[in-house]
Amino acid sequence: MSSHNKSSSLSHQGQVAKLTLSKNGIEQSFEFPILSGTLGPDVLDIRELYTQTGYLTYDPGFTSTASCESAITFVDGEKGLLLHRGYTIQELATHCDFLEVAYLLLYGEIPNQSQKIDFEQNIITHTMLHEQLINFYQGFRRDAHPMAIMVGVVGALSSFYHDSLDLKDPEQRELASYRLIAKMPSIAAMAYKYSVGQPFVYPRNNLRYAENFLHMMFALPSYDYQINKTIAQAINKIFILHADHEQNASTSTVRLAGSSAANPFACIASGIASLWGPAHGGANEAVLNMLKEIGTKDQIPEYLKRAKDRNDSFRLMGFGHRVYKNFDPRAVVLKESCHQVLDALGVKKDPLFDLAMELEKIALQDEYFIEKKLFPNVDFYSGIILQAIGIPVSMFTVLFAVARTVGWVSQWREMIGDPVQKIGRPRQRYIGSMQRPFIALKER
Ligand code: SDX
Repeated sequence: MSSHNKSSSLSHQGQVAKLTLSKNGIEQSFEFPILSGTLGPDVLDIRELYTQTGYLTYDPGFTSTASCESAITFVDGEKGLLLHRGYTIQELATHCDFLEVAYLLLYGEIPNQSQKIDFEQNIITHTMLHEQLINFYQGFRRDAHPMAIMVGVVGALSSFYHDSLDLKDPEQRELASYRLIAKMPSIAAMAYKYSVGQPFVYPRNNLRYAENFLHMMFALPSYDYQINKTIAQAINKIFILHADHEQNASTSTVRLAGSSAANPFACIASGIASLWGPAHGGANEAVLNMLKEIGTKDQIPEYLKRAKDRNDSFRLMGFGHRVYKNFDPRAVVLKESCHQVLDALGVKKDPLFDLAMELEKIALQDEYFIEKKLFPNVDFYSGIILQAIGIPVSMFTVLFAVARTVGWVSQWREMIGDPVQKIGRPRQRYIGSMQRPFIALKER
C-alpha cells in the first residue's frame, strides 16, 4: 500500500493510500482516503474496504485501529504527553479541582466562575441515592469484592431513574450524566462501609467532591471526622489523573455498549466490569498485592526473572502500557505526590514505598524492560498513595472507577452525539469447522 498525493480539500489533505491486490494472477488497485486529525497519526479511512475489496482487516487488541473520532483526550506515547481538550495533565492536576476537569471533559472548556458554581450545584444535588437502593447492598456477602458491588448497584440505577433514560432527549442525557458523576462516590463509599459493617454515611452538600468522598468513607456516628487537607488534595489529584485516557479497554467497552442504545447506567456498569481486570484498572490493587508478595528487596531479582520468563504468567504489575513507550506522565505526577503525602502524613519511609522505589530502579536498568519499553504506569504509584491514606487495597480500583466515570460519561455523550456513529459490530477471521452434516445420536 503506498500513499499518493492528490490536490484536494485541506481537511483530507487529498492524500490517498493505494492498495494493490493480486489474486489468481489478476491485479486490482484500490484507493482509500488518508484522514488527518489535529494531532497524532494520520488514519487510513477503510470504511469501504470490505465492500470494495471483499477483504477484512485483522487487528486483535486494536493495536493499529482508530475506533472513532474524539476531541476529548490525546495521548502521545512517544513524548509521554496527555492532553484533555488541549490542556496538559500536569497543568490540570496542579491547578484544577476534579469537578473543573469533569466540566472540561464534558463540555470542552474549563468553566468560568459562574459555570463552575452552577456545575458543582448540579452535581452536589444528585449525590444521594434513592433510599431503596440501600437494600441492594444487603444482597452481597460482607466479603464481596467492592467492584462486584459497583457493577451491580450502578447497573441497577436504571431501575430507579426512569426520567433519565431517553437517549434522544438531551436534557435526560445531561441528567443521567450528572447522576452518574454525583452518585459514584456515594455508591463507592457505601460499598466500603458495607464491607466493614459500619453504617452508611450520607453525602454533605457543603463538602467538595474529594472531601465528600473521604467523609462518606471514614466518618462515623461516634466521632466528628476531620478531613485532612493533604489527603483531600491527594484524592483530588488521583481523581484528575484517572479521569480519562482515550479509547482504553473500559472506555471502548462503554462506547460499544452505548452503540446499541443501551441506557447510560448499563453502559457505565459495563465500563466498571472491564476496568476491574488486573491488566487494566485492577492493576493498582495488583501492584500492592505484588509488592506484599515480593516482601523484601532481596526478592526483587527473582521476581524480575519471573516477569521476563515467557513461560511464567507473572508480570510486573504497574509496568508497561499499550500506548506510552517512554513514560506515563501520570506516574511522574503521582510519584511526586507520593513523596508529599508520605512526608505530610509523617509516614516514615513506607516500607512498601521503599520496596517500590527499589523495584522501579532495578527494573528501569534491566535490558529486558528497556528493550520492551516497560516502565511504571499510573497504577504503580496510585496504590502506594492510597495505601498510605488508609484506603483498603480492595477499594483501589473502585476509586479508579469513580474517577473514570467522568471520562466514560464524556466519551459516551460524544459517541451518542456523533452523526456517523452506528452499532459497533466487528467481524472476525473464522478458523472453525467447514459446514458438515449432522450425525444423529444413535450414530455417534
Ligand atoms: C491501565 O489503555 C490505557 O490507557 C490503560 C490505562 C488507562 O488510563 O485507561 O492507562 C490504565 O490499564 C494501565 C496499565 C495497567 N496494567 C498493568 O500495569 C498490568 C501489567 N502490564 C501489562 O499487562 C501490559 O504492559 C499492558 C496490558 C499494560 C500492555 O499490554 P500490551 O501493550 O498489549 O503489551 P504486551 O502485553 O503485548 O507486552 C509486550 C511485551 C510482551 O512480551 P513479548 O510477548 O513481546 O515477548 O512486553 C511484555 C509482554 O510479555 N510485558 C511485560 C509487562 N508488560 C508487557 N512483561 C513483564 N511485566 C509487564 N508488566
